[in-house]
Amino acid sequence: MLIISAIQELRDRLKSELSVAFVPTMGNLHQGHLALVRQAREHGRCVVASIFVNPLQFGPNEDFAKYPRTFEQDCEKLEGLADVVFAPKMEDLYPEPQQVYVEPPPVASELCGAFRPGHFRGVATVVLKLFNIVQPQAAVFGKKDYQQLQVISAMVRQLNLPVEIVAGETLRAEDNLALSSRNGYLSETERAEAVRLYRNLALIRESIVAGNRDLPALECAAIADLEAHGWRVDYVSVRAAASLAPAKTGEINLVVLAAAWLGKTRLIDNLEICLNADKDL
Ligand code: PAF
Repeated sequence: MLIISAIQELRDRLKSELSVAFVPTMGNLHQGHLALVRQAREHGRCVVASIFVNPLQFGPNEDFAKYPRTFEQDCEKLEGLADVVFAPKMEDLYPEPQQVYVEPPPVASELCGAFRPGHFRGVATVVLKLFNIVQPQAAVFGKKDYQQLQVISAMVRQLNLPVEIVAGETLRAEDNLALSSRNGYLSETERAEAVRLYRNLALIRESIVAGNRDLPALECAAIADLEAHGWRVDYVSVRAAASLAPAKTGEINLVVLAAAWLGKTRLIDNLEICLNADKDL
């Protein structure tokens, strides 16, 4: 496995590759990331994983400075899974203040976007930069960041980028907490409580599958349960899976998404809900 930080060196290394599959990350890797890297192997002869904590996607009061940087351990974990680790230096990726951005679709201003203004613009912009450098045939993104996956897919479709976007399933701990780099911020008590987010989403899924169509009541009940246990909820929302538009009558592919704070840690999760055609919304 090669570790490369210079853009030109990466381009030279990848020049002769027939197909490249790419997994962009911000490091602090866990099994969820590694599953995406394994999945990438099915989509390209050469697997590239990038590690770069992108300042553009963090708001002024967010955790950019304290985002865990664990480069050595990350490289050890990627050994045998990736062929190349691309870890660009800040001054190489952003040699001058970024003034050209990808304007993401309107859905990027809802859900997480409503609470993290500019976040998806920063994500889309760095992903486009990374795509231009790596020039992959395929790139794998986790469903854990469902809205991110939709924003990137829309960018690729609407800007005609020659990249296949592959979705990776969310990996969960034994108690079903979605694996996330931010789980590391949780205290022991918070970690035990954290699974309540998943439980509420699972309850909503169960209720909808059982025929409950009162989505606002389901969302409110989940919010009330979380708040009663000390969470600060940004949103719990049932949406159409393909567009993330509010779920409408007749829909069969839904997703319930949530973001909520447990202490100082913001957790997100989501669950897809597939209804039978004769039991649509
Ligand atoms: O999902 C992430 O880790 C980041 O948003 C990404 C896609 C690597 C862009 O910085």
